[in-house]
Amino acid sequence: METYVVPRTFARAMAEEKRRPIVLVPTMGALHAGHGELIKAARKKAGRKGCVVVSIFVNPTQFGPSEDYQRYPRPWKKDRTLCQQLGADVVFRPKSDAMYAADHSIYIEESSLSTGLCGASRPGHFRGVCTVVAQLFHLSHADWAVFGEKDYQQLAIIQRMVRDLHMPVQILATPTVREPDGLAMSSRNRFLSPEERVNAPAIRMALLALAGSAAGVSPAKAEVRLHKQLAQIPGALVDYASIVDASTLQAVQKFDRPTVALVAVRIGETRLIDNIPLPW
Ligand code: PAF
Repeated sequence: METYVVPRTFARAMAEEKRRPIVLVPTMGALHAGHGELIKAARKKAGRKGCVVVSIFVNPTQFGPSEDYQRYPRPWKKDRTLCQQLGADVVFRPKSDAMYAADHSIYIEESSLSTGLCGASRPGHFRGVCTVVAQLFHLSHADWAVFGEKDYQQLAIIQRMVRDLHMPVQILATPTVREPDGLAMSSRNRFLSPEERVNAPAIRMALLALAGSAAGVSPAKAEVRLHKQLAQIPGALVDYASIVDASTLQAVQKFDRPTVALVAVRIGETRLIDNIPLPW
């Protein structure tokens, strides 16, 4: 497994790999079994001859000033071992000043899908995500890139960016990977105290209850119910609990099309997100 830290050197090496399919797994490191599934999906897509690239970069531009950029875990040795075990061919692990010059001034901004949900509570977040993902696509010469459905809004925005900017990469979406008790895997789960960790699966339970009971009520009523149920989780502060059109991410009046419920809940200091498609 090759590791690159300098963007230009990485881009040159990847240009030479161009004769075989390149599949990128963009991550911020602190890899867990959920990332493991993304890497396995990449390996499957690339086949034995293709090249699987994992990028590990805690991207400063997607964190707000009061967010957890500094304390975001960076267990490089563990991450490297996992990438190796899962058969990654290349790891790209740049430093932040190599990705962003001191006077960096070009950003990519999505202006529709990113306005609500996490975009509303984390201003500038998706601008940072789009900008770094575009850089990673460009540097890696990826034919495919793998993203998890846990970050539903992020996935929708990346797909839109690829479409609107005619980027020559295809997006492979993979299902959310869960702990046995239903909690969606996330690098941030390690911040939960033992008590918070016991309470956190209630997020998934609330979503499952919603999916089982949404028929017969309006989306607005179902949202209120969901919000109430989430607010009952000990130590929880609900950031949002929204039912939206699965493609536009806009609010819906009726369950007359594919919809998805998306939630962000802060348990103690840890912000967790999850989602579920709703029957219609
Ligand atoms: O989902 C993530 O881990 C990040 O948002 C991503 C896509 C790697 C961009 O920094």
